Amino acid sequence: MNKKIEELCNRQIEREGYSSNLYLAMASWAENNGYPGFASWLYSQSEEEKEHMLKFIRYINERGGKAQIPAFKKPPADFKNIKDLFNEVLKHEKFITASINEIFDATLSEKDYSTSNFLQWFLAEQVEEEASVHNIIDKLNMMPANNIYPLDKEIMTLRSKK
Ligand code: FEO
Repeated sequence: MNKKIEELCNRQIEREGYSSNLYLAMASWAENNGYPGFASWLYSQSEEEKEHMLKFIRYINERGGKAQIPAFKKPPADFKNIKDLFNEVLKHEKFITASINEIFDATLSEKDYSTSNFLQWFLAEQVEEEASVHNIIDKLNMMPANNIYPLDKEIMTLRSKK
């Protein structure tokens, strides 16, 4: 496997794994602060991020590279409020999108078209993830801060249908 691409894919293992831990920390905060619906959304999101990390691990190994399992930095444990938390999710997803775009760019300049093809799935997934977080933020902005409970319930229903 092209060394530069292997390094970037290994870096992405850490980023996807950190995303999983970050959403786990957020889920736990939401659960402890009376938002079972948002907690359930975030727990599922954490599982999805773990799957993204696994996709990179298995892809690197399949191509004859060596997947590195990194240490992860500790995610924050406290958040100001639920709106702030989702703004952080969006900011983080934008960072991940930029990171995937950067690897994609590198695959084109290194002519590693198989990895470009592998990354297509992530490019589409990022569009979907950013849109769904935007949607939650829009809804949160429409709700009075002291009555978010109906939205929490709605999110719970949405998640269980997925
Ligand atoms: Fe796997 Fe949400 O980035």
